[in-house]
Order: sequence, then C-alpha cells, then structure tokens
Amino acid sequence: MNTLDRFDKVSLGIFPTPIRRLDNLSALLRTNVYVKRDDLTGLGLGGNKVRKLEYLMADARRQGAEVVFTTGGAQSNHAMLTAAAAARLGMKAILVLKKRGVTACVGNQLLERLMGTQVVFVDTDDYADIYAEMDRIGAGLGVPYYKIPCGGSNALGCLGYVACAREIAGQGVRFDHIVCAEGSGGTLAGLALGAKLFLPGARIHGMMVDTDPFDEITPRLMREAAALLEADVTVGGADFRLRDMCGPGYAIPSEAGNAAVSLMAAREGLFLDPVYTGKAFAGLVAMAEEGAFAPSDNVLFIHTGGAGGLFAVAQA
Ligand SMILES: Cc1ncc(COP(=O)(O)O)c(C=O)c1O
Repeated sequence: MNTLDRFDKVSLGIFPTPIRRLDNLSALLRTNVYVKRDDLTGLGLGGNKVRKLEYLMADARRQGAEVVFTTGGAQSNHAMLTAAAAARLGMKAILVLKKRGVTACVGNQLLERLMGTQVVFVDTDDYADIYAEMDRIGAGLGVPYYKIPCGGSNALGCLGYVACAREIAGQGVRFDHIVCAEGSGGTLAGLALGAKLFLPGARIHGMMVDTDPFDEITPRLMREAAALLEADVTVGGADFRLRDMCGPGYAIPSEAGNAAVSLMAAREGLFLDPVYTGKAFAGLVAMAEEGAFAPSDNVLFIHTGGAGGLFAVAQA
C-alpha cells in the first residue's frame, strides 16, 4: 500500500517498536501473549500519539504554522506529547484542556510545566466551545496556527496506526488477535484499516475506556482514512470488535484495570496505566478467561503508553 508513503511525516519517534512474547502471562492465560512496545516510541515518555503526530505535525509545518493547539483532559497524554513534539520541532504548543481530572502539577501537568508549555483550562466538555477558544487565542497571536483534534484522531492521525499495522506485518509473527485501548478512536481505526491492508486474518479488538459511541466513530474514521489513502477497501463495523472496559468512568480507575496494572507489573516488570492500558489489558485478560483465545493463538497487546497518567491518577 504505497500511497501511505506519499504522506509527509516528520520524524519524532524511534521505529519499529519492539514486539516481545510475555512468557509468564502466556503461561497464566494459556495462549501466546505478545506486547508491542508503543510505550517506547521515543518522544517524551513514549506512547501511541507519537505515530499520529508524525503526520499531524508535518501537516502543521506544511501549512506554515508556528503554533499548534490541541485539547484533552487535564492529564491528556496526547496533549503532553503534542507539546513535546512542538518542543522538538521548535514550534509552540498551546493546550486548551478540559478542567476534568487531576489539574495539579503532577503527571502530565508536571511534564508540561517542565517544557514551559502554555496550558489554558476551560470548564466545558463541548468541543465547539474549545475550538472556538483556540481560535480566539489564535487570532491574537499574529502567526499562523494549526488545530489538532482531541487525541489526534482524524483521518490523517489514523495513518500513524495504518503504518503501525504495516510495521507489525514485517516483524515476523502472524497474529490472530490484536488488542488496544480505545479513547478517541484513531488508534483502533488505524489498526483496523491497516489490518485489512496488511494483516489478513488478524482480528482487532478495541477496549473502550470512555463512553463515546465508538461503534459509529471507529468506522467513520476508518472510512475517512481509507479515502485519504485512496484505498480500494470497504470498511465497517465487522472489521473490529469492541468491549466496554470503562468501569466507573473515563480517567477513573476500575478494579479490573488496577488488577491488570498490578498483574503486568508483578509478572512481567512492565508498567501499564490506570486510564488506558490497564483497562485495555484487563479486557484481554477477561477474553482469555472466557476462552476467546485458543492455546495456539498469537495475541498482540499494543502498549500505547500512558506513563504520565500513572504518576497522577491514583490507584483506587
Ligand atoms: C496511553 C493511551 N493509550 C491509548 C489511548 C487511546 O488511543 P485513541 O485516542 O487513539 O483511541 C490514549 C489516548 O486517548 C492514550 O493516551
């Protein structure tokens, strides 16, 4: 699928990220569990947003932007990594963050303080208001600016995970199942589209950590990304499976998520986070317990990062 290579990227990360078999958890869960270390993408503390930002920041630069805006909750990993990308590229980031979650100077807020990032809190969940606030601030800047949507989840951002699927296809193991967290949709949509193109036979599972209508969001993003790539594929809800792992709410730790964080740490010496990857891995564990995986299956967990949140959002 060489149209993928037609899109400009800036180099922000270190790829390919490693894939490793988790021997202890494979024995425990009676299947072959692998992890793809997208927590080691090489910018900031790593994480999935680096792949999306390689495309989005290239577009910002192409449009002559000197400032990038983005949004998310107070502990948004995406917002922190956007600021890190801007720092790396000599641009300025302004984060218009929802006053939701932990706003104190810990976790990603601390990292933003260290980078000298401008953070503006807004007391709303309405994205129209948030983007209007970006335009209000932007109008006073006197330089071109670029707005990146929440989570970097638009068609262009999704290309980062289409490229990830292509990367996986070249890493030597054939996967039956691929599991990731779903927060704003771009990671799952990119993987599901990428699997259609590069990983035939792999079933893609999105573990929902928020309450948005992902059954509508995911196929829409897949369609838009497929159109961008001019890919001759039909995409839809049959290309992925969803599981609700949100628990008590977005960014509120769940019992199952916390147990998964502890399990991964104790058995494999790897750290998940309570907002995304802990809940997502809890979904994988639940599927294994339900007998969804055969002993011979290869199951790939995408570790999408989230270390900043681990140090801000308390284990319940
Ligand atoms: C650590 C981490 N994992 C997973 C996700 C979910 O990815 P997406 O927003 O593409 O659904 C996010 C962001 O939302 C994240 O920060």
